[in-house]
Amino acid sequence: MNKNDKSNINHIIGIVSGKGGVGKSYVTGSLAVELAKQGYRVGILDGDVTGPSIPHMFNIDSGVYGDEEIIYPAASKVFHIKIISSALLLAHDEDPIMWRGPLIGSLVTQFYTTVNWGELDYLLIDFPPGTSDVAISAFANIPVDGIILVTTPQQMVQQIVKKTYKMAKEMKVKLIGVIENMAYIVLPESKEKYYLYGQNKLENLQKTFPIKVLGSLPLLPANTKLVDEGKIEVTDTSAFTNVVESLIKELEYE
Ligand SMILES: Nc1ncnc2c1ncn2[C@@H]1O[C@H](COP(=O)(O)OP(=O)(O)O)[C@@H](O)[C@H]1O
Ligand SMILES: [Mg+2]
Repeated sequence: MNKNDKSNINHIIGIVSGKGGVGKSYVTGSLAVELAKQGYRVGILDGDVTGPSIPHMFNIDSGVYGDEEIIYPAASKVFHIKIISSALLLAHDEDPIMWRGPLIGSLVTQFYTTVNWGELDYLLIDFPPGTSDVAISAFANIPVDGIILVTTPQQMVQQIVKKTYKMAKEMKVKLIGVIENMAYIVLPESKEKYYLYGQNKLENLQKTFPIKVLGSLPLLPANTKLVDEGKIEVTDTSAFTNVVESLIKELEYE
């Protein structure tokens, strides 16, 4: 396990998913914003090195500086969330990173070890999707408190949860809980919650896996637009207040 003696971080949480497009980065960014709104000091390590989307959500394209030994993260405009991403280290946003697995894994680890994060209450790590080598090597090197699995109701299948459960166990990482993203929409007239894929998915899942559900999130079209415009810091994050509450409770039980 590597140490980072430049920083003082209370909790390190990994955000993972079975595959891409389920809203892992959306959840990482929104959770960071909600935590910051509540007064916590927050950082995001964008570990999705080949598909980094965090800087775009926060509309930042620079601000990382340092020398050979130490790197300082960029800071978001509204809540001063500290951000490190491969997208901030490249000259052009479009430059794809073609590095291979082991190198990517060590880059993620270096984003932890060589960065001066300062004082943080929470460092959230947006992991690449899947149970990849990158995730495995990062878990071996970064002292995470635990991981949160993001799924959508269609993805809320036994297989993905089982796989993540198994990986967490093998890596001796705590699976803090699951977040069901895009579970429902709020009907414009009646303000009723309309569950797009039915509501029984979670209950069925919990019958087989003793996994904590940290929250079910609405699909908010207004947020999709704002996030795409780089304005995640002004989105409605009220759906995350319960998530924060459950997360803090889970971390206390450690
Ligand atoms: N609950 C949600 N409400 C509105 N838009 C969402 C929600 N979750 C995800 N999105 C949008 O869906 C797209 C995919 O999400 P993203 O976080 O990039 O997925 P992943 O990181 O898992 O690949 C993005 O445009 C994101 O802003
Ligand atoms: Mg992503």
